[in-house]
Amino acid sequence: MLPFILRRLRTLLFAVVSTCFAANALAQSPPPAAPDLAKARTIVTSVCAACHGADGNSPTAANPNLAGMPAEYITVQLMHFQAGIRTNAVMQGMAATLSPEDMKQLLTELRKEGTTLRERKPQNEGRK
Ligand code: HEC
Repeated sequence: MLPFILRRLRTLLFAVVSTCFAANALAQSPPPAAPDLAKARTIVTSVCAACHGADGNSPTAANPNLAGMPAEYITVQLMHFQAGIRTNAVMQGMAATLSPEDMKQLLTELRKEGTTLRERKPQNEGRK
């Protein structure tokens, strides 16, 4: 009887120890890559700004303002354009080339200190 219990205990101990090793290996996996803000800035200034304005205040009513929009909203809209949940020929083309990281980093860039994206210009108030 005793050897049986000891064997069971040994199996249990082995299971616990290997779980700990596995958890440790998981904890040591490399951290996610740092946001590539330079890339995001280039996309925003060279692509998005043309239609949505450098500060998110779009110069024409055909293109919505991004200024004043919650960060999460912008990311979700980009994901929806990419997935075809929201359809618009222009923006689906824009979103098609963005990676999930790009979409989040664009936001970080857009929200960065120094941009006026949070502020909507008075003449654009009440406009989409
Ligand atoms: C060629 C012009 C053009 C460019 C360039 C462009 N957009 Fe747009 N964007 C539009 C238009 C037009 C809409 C409105 C789409 C609709 O009616 O569904 C829009 C809509 C959006 C919306 C949704 C806004 C809302 O009110 O729901 C977001 C977010 C957005 N664009 C982000 C971006 C980002 C980020 C970029 C750069 C990667 C970009 N756009 C580049 C024309 C453009």
